Amino acid sequence: MIPAPRQVPVGAGRTLAVREAGAGLPVVLLHGFPLDHSMWRGQWGLVAPGGPLEGRARLVVPDLAGFGGSPGPARPTIAAMADDVAALLDGLGIGGPAVVCGLSMGGYVTQHLAARHRRRLAGLVLVDTKLEADGDEARRARYDLADRVSRVGSRIAAEAMVPRLVARGPDAAIDGAARGRAEVEDLLRATIEATGTDTIRTALHALAERPDMTAAAAAFDLPALLVVGAEDTITPPECLERARETIPGAVLRIVPRCGHMTPLEDPPAFNAELAAFVESLFNSPRPGLPPAP
Ligand code: MLT
Repeated sequence: MIPAPRQVPVGAGRTLAVREAGAGLPVVLLHGFPLDHSMWRGQWGLVAPGGPLEGRARLVVPDLAGFGGSPGPARPTIAAMADDVAALLDGLGIGGPAVVCGLSMGGYVTQHLAARHRRRLAGLVLVDTKLEADGDEARRARYDLADRVSRVGSRIAAEAMVPRLVARGPDAAIDGAARGRAEVEDLLRATIEATGTDTIRTALHALAERPDMTAAAAAFDLPALLVVGAEDTITPPECLERARETIPGAVLRIVPRCGHMTPLEDPPAFNAELAAFVESLFNSPRPGLPPAP
C-alpha cells in the first residue's frame, strides 16, 4: 500500500509532498522526469512486514517541486532541486546521512546532492541515468519539446516519452509482470498528462542546461551502486559503464529485460539490488551511519 503524503516545508514558504514508511537508515527515492512518487510503487514492499529492509530502512519518497503533489513552481536547475532535497531532510529532522537513490533526472539530482551536500549522504544509487551533459542535438530536442508542450499541453510530452520508457523486446520483464505493459504505460501516461505544462517546460530547460558531472563524480568518496536496464535506450548501459569507470569503487548492475524504468519494470530484481546495497552499508559502517538495528 502506498502511504498518504504530507507537505513538508523546504523554505521560502514552499513545501514538498513526501511519503514515508519504515524505520532505520533513511533511503530517499527521487523520481525521473516528468514523473512522481508513483514510479516507486514497487519499492514499498522493501520495508513492509517480511520485506528485506523491514526495521532497517525508512523510505522517503518525495515529489520534486511542481511534480505530483508538490506545489510549483518547478525549480529552474538540477542544483536547486538537490538543495530542495537537502532542505527536505532538514524538514524531516533527518540530520544523519541518508542513502539517496535517483532515477534518470532523479539521478542527476542525486549527483548534485553528492557534490553539494556530501555530509548528508551515506551512499548513492544512480539508476538509468548518466553523468554527461546533453549534446547540442539533445538540447535542441528538449527546447523543441518545451515549445510544443507550451502550445499543445502535457499530452505531447506523454506521447513523446511513454513509448521509449519501457523495454519492448520479445521477453521484456514488463510483459511477464503481474501488472503488465498496458497498466504500466497507462500509469506513466496519466502521471505525465497530470503534470503542469509550466513544470514540464521549466524542467526541460533545467535538463538541457545541466552541467557535465564527470569531474565531480570522479571525486565522490561514497559507496555507490549503479543500476541500469539492459534495454534502456534513453541512458543505455554504456552511460553507466562510463560512470562505473569514473566513480571510485562504484558497483554496476545491469538488469536484463528492462528499459529506462527498471524499478517499475522489474521490482523484485531492482529491490534485491537496492536491499543488498543498503545491507552492505551496515556491514561496513562509515562514520555517521547509525548502527545496524
Ligand atoms: C528522466 O527519465 O528523468 C529523463 O529521461 C531524463 C532525461 O531525459 O535526461
